[in-house]
Amino acid sequence: ITIRQATINDIQAMQNANLHNLPENYQLKYYMYHILSWPQASFVATTYDDIVNTKEDENDEENGFLPVVIEDPKGDSAYINRGEKIVGYVLGKMEDDPEADDKTPHGHITSLSVMRTYRRMGIAEKLMRQSLYAMCESFDAQYVSLHVRKSNRAALHLYRDSLNFEVTSIEKSYYQDGEDAYAMRLSLKLEE
Ligand code: ACO
Repeated sequence: ITIRQATINDIQAMQNANLHNLPENYQLKYYMYHILSWPQASFVATTYDDIVNTKEDENDEENGFLPVVIEDPKGDSAYINRGEKIVGYVLGKMEDDPEADDKTPHGHITSLSVMRTYRRMGIAEKLMRQSLYAMCESFDAQYVSLHVRKSNRAALHLYRDSLNFEVTSIEKSYYQDGEDAYAMRLSLKLEE
């Protein structure tokens, strides 16, 4: 598994992962807004998967894939590419709402998810740490905030126990289906 900064080329795959994993979904332009405004704050976890192409793609080698010819039972040749696949993402931003009460520069985790078969491998924790570090380094974020469903045990454990976030308040009926959210926060500055 590789963790790298997310680019505009990843937003479709990030949206797909989000649709798979969470009921809170966003339009592509919202992903684009994150990546263009705070390119350092969002990350993807990737792995390589063998993708079988039935047709030879002339650009395979240019694209960095190494096509391997295999025999197809129907007699046609098939090509296997070592294709990069996104298995998790973190979508992060800086708070930019001019109406926000708190003018202290701070980051916000908009969305985080890891595909089911890749969970409990430490991927979400790594994605979060990269994003938190970047928010602090690149944008001088003093703290980072997020919302999580009260019933989301896995995410709550991750934020509270692995990353030391604290619950700052409960937001009643924050989600569309009426569920409450924990508003959580982590200070990014070392205590003096
Ligand atoms: N039960 C209890 N604790 C868990 C669980 C679980 N199922 N999964 C993760 N944790 C906690 C543990 O403390 C774990 O540390 P440990 O393994 O040392 O005990 C820690 O989180 C780190 O786990 P990771 O392996 O890094 O987490 P993973 O890669 O599995 O991803 C995630 C966790 C993102 C919550 C995943 O379960 C997921 O994608 N869920 C669906 C989407 C989701 O809920 N996203 C968060 C919504 S909130 C938001 O986006 C701001």
